[in-house]
Amino acid sequence: MTTQNQAPGISDATQSCDHSSSEGCSSDHSNSDQLSALIARHCGMSGALLPVLHAIQDNIGFIPEMAVPLIADALNLSRAEVHGVITYYHHFRQTPPGRTVIQVCRAEACQARGADKLAQHVQTQLGCDFHATTADGSFTLESVYCLGLCACGPAITMNDQLYARVSPEKFNQLLKQGNV
Ligand code: FES
Repeated sequence: MTTQNQAPGISDATQSCDHSSSEGCSSDHSNSDQLSALIARHCGMSGALLPVLHAIQDNIGFIPEMAVPLIADALNLSRAEVHGVITYYHHFRQTPPGRTVIQVCRAEACQARGADKLAQHVQTQLGCDFHATTADGSFTLESVYCLGLCACGPAITMNDQLYARVSPEKFNQLLKQGNV
């Protein structure tokens, strides 16, 4: 995960569960049940908010709006605090991702190897800005800051598959081959 300053609402203190609160665990909606189970699995941890958010996004693909009050109740936080953290980190999506998620590394080593040019090219090819999804739901484009392939950048991922030394031409090939 990207190194960023401490997010608003994050404290190092243990965030304890509150399963007695009304809204979180009482919903009969299956999504609500799934969310509650994910929250319950992590909410006993120290600084549980980020692990909870990661677990939800890893399992569901994004953080649904309905998760905010459930998380807030379980962790004894305000809804504003939870929402503030979700919006602080670009990593967290608030809407479902496209069928293919493309991440372009924009950190220094990749920049030195042409990542800026590639990033511009990818946006043009997809017709999509970073941290956005194409209108037809095909692609979500995200920036990341180091994928561990610094010596052979520019690096990208496509649905978690890593690709190194990605030139604009190579990106076009990947598109043509249906790899994305
Ligand atoms: S800087 Fe891009 S992979 Fe490390």
